[in-house]
Amino acid sequence: MTESLTVTEISIPKTPTLPDAQTVTSVTHWTDRLFSFRVTRPQSLRFRSGEFVMIGLMGENGKPLLRAYSIASPSWDEELEFYSIKVQDGPLTSKLQHIQPGDQIILRPKPVGTLVLDALLPGKRLWFFATGTGLAPFASLMRDPETYERYDEVIMMHTCRDVAELEYGRQLVESLPEDPLIGEFVAGKLRYYPTTTREDSAQMGRITDNLTSGKVFADLGIPPISPDTDRGMVCGSLAFNTDMKQVLEGFGLREGANSDPAEYVVEKAFVG
Ligand SMILES: Cc1cc2nc3c(=O)[nH]c(=O)nc-3n(C[C@H](O)[C@H](O)[C@H](O)COP(=O)(O)OP(=O)(O)OC[C@H]3O[C@@H](n4cnc5c(N)ncnc54)[C@H](O)[C@@H]3O)c2cc1C
Ligand SMILES: NC(=O)c1ccc[n+]([C@@H]2O[C@H](COP(=O)([O-])OP(=O)(O)OC[C@H]3O[C@@H](n4cnc5c(N)ncnc54)[C@H](OP(=O)(O)O)[C@@H]3O)[C@@H](O)[C@H]2O)c1
Repeated sequence: MTESLTVTEISIPKTPTLPDAQTVTSVTHWTDRLFSFRVTRPQSLRFRSGEFVMIGLMGENGKPLLRAYSIASPSWDEELEFYSIKVQDGPLTSKLQHIQPGDQIILRPKPVGTLVLDALLPGKRLWFFATGTGLAPFASLMRDPETYERYDEVIMMHTCRDVAELEYGRQLVESLPEDPLIGEFVAGKLRYYPTTTREDSAQMGRITDNLTSGKVFADLGIPPISPDTDRGMVCGSLAFNTDMKQVLEGFGLREGANSDPAEYVVEKAFVG
């Protein structure tokens, strides 16, 4: 018996569409080391403010080159925003820093992470502690009405080496009380404590030092951190996270997780 084979011709596009492709809608360069960008949001993507996803570009070997990125936009936003470093010899960001509106990036729609409100026990004051691009998850949480429904006061401490590196966060925080969508939730509840460590500015010093010396409490006119009232979220370099754990444990706070909520949670802003 002869078997007959049916060959169906399919057309293969010369430039294959990226898997999990999303389209860049805007790009803002803040310094020669920092930029932010917005992309279309997959209709099916649900995430909790503060989580991260894997994003990237197609590598020269034809395989996706992906890195972890905190989603900087809140969960209600119809687009997704990211806040990124530019590492000049970084495999991904040496290329990603050149994206333009209309370009495509890869976005794996599997959000995860520990910097979520559910990983903390209820409290009165919520502290966000960030260095550098560690601000990104808090750019999301600061824009989420649930943050203000759960806490009476939210304090954003952000520290960078130079003034220009604070600008993305500063513009965001200053715009929030007037924001037509969430201004009513934010107004009077969000306090901002930006500092620099290498360039002179109005407020200076490492977050760890300003907490242990009590300077931040004196400047803001508030009582020191207590496990009865305060909750914290930490995002920065490994050294910063390690030192912050010690500082917060010193105030009597315990580290929590999604599965075991407590008084503070930590996530790396980058590896290395
Ligand atoms: C959970 C998680 C969330 C992250 N979220 C973000 C984010 O929202 N925005 C972001 O820019 N990066 C974020 N990163 C870092 C990101 O995954 C990449 O490392 C970064 O995009 C650089 O990629 P690369 O391939 O160019 O260089 P890589 O080879 O990944 O990194 C090269 C070196 O650059 C330095 N570096 C990498 N990322 C940073 C950074 N963000 N700030 C300062 N130095 C850095 C480190 O020393 C690193 O060893 C996150 C990492 C983790 C683990
Ligand atoms: N930022 C720049 O202008 C710049 C330029 C070129 C290259 N780089 C390189 O890029 C990498 C990341 O630099 P980055 O500036 O984004 O991040 P970073 O070195 O982690 O510093 C960011 C901020 O966090 C503070 N910090 C660092 N470790 C801390 C700790 N253990 N406890 C409390 N605060 C701490 C720093 O204060 P201190 O200033 O006191 O350390 C700084 O204000 C570094 O390898 C750096 O050499 C940075």
